[in-house]
Amino acid sequence: MIPVTKPYLPNREKLNQYIDGIYERNWLTNNGPLLQELTGRLEKYLGVENLLLVSNGTLALQIAYRTLGITDFQTRETSEAITTPFTFIATASSLKWEGVEPVFSDIDPKTWCLDPAQIESKITPQTKAIVPVHVFGNACDVEAIDNIAQRYDLKVIYDAAHAFGVSYKGQSLLNYGDASTLSFHATKLFHSIEGGAIVFKSKQDLERAKQIINFGISGPDNIDTLGINAKMNEFQAAMGLSVLDELESNFTFRAEIWNNYAGSLGSNYQLQKLNPEIQYNYAYFPIVFDTTEQALQVLNMLKENNIIARRYFFPSLDTVDYFQLEHYQPISKDIASRILCLPVYYGLDTETQNTIITLIKKAVMK
Ligand SMILES: Cc1ncc(COP(=O)(O)O)c(C=O)c1O
Repeated sequence: MIPVTKPYLPNREKLNQYIDGIYERNWLTNNGPLLQELTGRLEKYLGVENLLLVSNGTLALQIAYRTLGITDFQTRETSEAITTPFTFIATASSLKWEGVEPVFSDIDPKTWCLDPAQIESKITPQTKAIVPVHVFGNACDVEAIDNIAQRYDLKVIYDAAHAFGVSYKGQSLLNYGDASTLSFHATKLFHSIEGGAIVFKSKQDLERAKQIINFGISGPDNIDTLGINAKMNEFQAAMGLSVLDELESNFTFRAEIWNNYAGSLGSNYQLQKLNPEIQYNYAYFPIVFDTTEQALQVLNMLKENNIIARRYFFPSLDTVDYFQLEHYQPISKDIASRILCLPVYYGLDTETQNTIITLIKKAVMK
């Protein structure tokens, strides 16, 4: 079976060396030395400051909302955040979980990121934040979004779960907004089995978040704030360091797969219009077909050949029942109904890739 993605397993000897260290120190979690090493190395690699490692990408979002005061459990005021319906469920469910009502705004039909021109009409007195997603690693229109946020005094939290290593205008994309969050789930380009990170604009927010992820404890005898447990442990950090050590070959391999797909399928199908100012990370290869029927036909034909493509991101989140919405965002709903993500992972061989390309062409006869 060819999956849509496969976890990257780093060199075993290298991983063992990190794990030997854990056994020698008997320090398994709570800001251990490997976590500190990974924090420093990621800050350097990504070109960011104020990076906080956490146990997964969903908690990264939740901690970011808490730290930036989007949820106010003291006053219990209702708050809203404007976000995209074209993303993985965690972007919006994390808001709802935190007591913040997600207000969906439509995406740009070409970039599939939030369309800044539609955001302003969704702002109400309850709006506290904008939560855009750099979907599939494509950069949002960060200048336009930050401009709106400044004019209306809103916080911006970028869900950058897909944007590891993406740079924009020569610097890290993660440096935009009040915070950006990352997911280091096993299926991601860079992973720590489960894991995630928040990159804060301000050092003060970083320090507050450090307490929040550790039960709100500020010292041996002090509990200053309401907190939770969202710490990354040493075994996760060991995997992260091992994957990071080999990241360049992973990137190069994926770039080749991506370019092969793009070169063979490119002009005949709708591909995501990438922001021209980014250095891309080749994390995903999404493709939009002319109709839902065509997308499903390709999905089934690939499946018959033991190849799994996935309908990322379907359904459009505004149609999920528990949000109880009556009006849907038409562009997101349309793109979600016609999209498939093709297999991209380290080790995917050219022959399989060419089979995928041939099957797609055959299915839609282009
Ligand atoms: C856009 C987006 N946000 C958030 C998450 C949640 O990350 P995690 O699985 O690490 O909790 C994911 C996971 O795939 C994601 O794709």
